[in-house]
Amino acid sequence: MTLKDQINLEKLPRHIAIIMDGNGRWAEEKGQDRLYGHFHGVESVRNIVEGCAELGIEFLTLYAFSTENWDRPVHEVTGLMELLVETIRKEVPILNKNNIRLHVIGALDMLPDYARKELNEALEMTAANTGLNLVMALSYSSRWELVNAVKKIGLDVKAGKIQPEKINQDVLEQYLSTSDFPDPELMIRTSGEFRISNFLLYQLAYAELYFTSTRWPDFRKEHLYEAIIDFQKRERRFGKTHQQIEEKDKEEVTGTPG
Ligand code: IPE
Ligand code: IPE
Ligand code: MG
Repeated sequence: MTLKDQINLEKLPRHIAIIMDGNGRWAEEKGQDRLYGHFHGVESVRNIVEGCAELGIEFLTLYAFSTENWDRPVHEVTGLMELLVETIRKEVPILNKNNIRLHVIGALDMLPDYARKELNEALEMTAANTGLNLVMALSYSSRWELVNAVKKIGLDVKAGKIQPEKINQDVLEQYLSTSDFPDPELMIRTSGEFRISNFLLYQLAYAELYFTSTRWPDFRKEHLYEAIIDFQKRERRFGKTHQQIEEKDKEEVTGTPG
C-alpha cells in the first residue's frame, strides 16, 4: 500500500498551513549561497501545491516571507523578491490550468512596487478559479495582522459602525486577513525548528502541529502524505474529554445520539 493510499479521503483537513523553513541551511550545507536554497524551494512549492490539488484539499497557506524577514541582508531580500516575481510570472498559467486560485495575506505595502504589481495581476488572473485556494503569506506576521485588526475595529467603533459590546470572536475574525478562510486544521513546519515564528497565532488555536527535520527544498508529496496520515491518527478534542469525542463519533456513524 502506498503512502497516498493510506490517506482517508473522508477525513482530509480542509486547510493545511506550512512554514516553509530551511532553505538557507539546505544551501549552506551544499556550500552554496542561501539564494540557491530559495531557488530550489520553489520546486517544493510546485510539488506540494500539486499534491494538495490532487488530494482535493480546499485551502493551502504557505508562509513565504515574514515581516521580520525584511531585516535579512539586502542581497537575500532582493533575491527573494526577484524570485517571487519570476515565479508568479511563470506559475500563473499553471495555476489557471489547474483551477487554483491565488490569495495573498500580509503587509503588501512593504513590497517593492514591481512585486506588488505582479502579484495583483496574478490575483486577478486566477480570481475565477474554483479549485484549491492557495494563500501566500507574504510580508506577513500574526502580530502585524492582530494590531491591524484592532486598529480597524477601533476606527469602525469611532465611526459608529459597530458597538464595542457586540465585539465577539466572529466579529474579530472578520477583521483578520484570513476572514475568507477556515482555520487550518494541520500546520506543518519543516527544517527541524519547533516554533511558530509569528504565523497565524490566532488561527492555529486548535491546529494539529506537525514538525519534520526535512529541509523545505527536500520536502515532497510523500512528506505531505506522511503529515496527513499522522494528522488523521490524532484525536482532536477541542477541550472536551475523550469519552465525549467517542460518543459524538458513534452518533455520526449511527445517526442516533449516544
Ligand atoms: C525559509 O528558509 C524561507 C524564508 C524565510 C524566506 P530560511 O531562509 O529561513 O532558511 P534557514 O532557516 O535559514 O535554513
Ligand atoms: C519563518 O521562518 C518564516 C518563513 C518560513 C517565511 P524564519 O526562518 O524566518 O523563522 P525563525 O527566524 O527561524 O524563527
Ligand atoms: Mg529559517
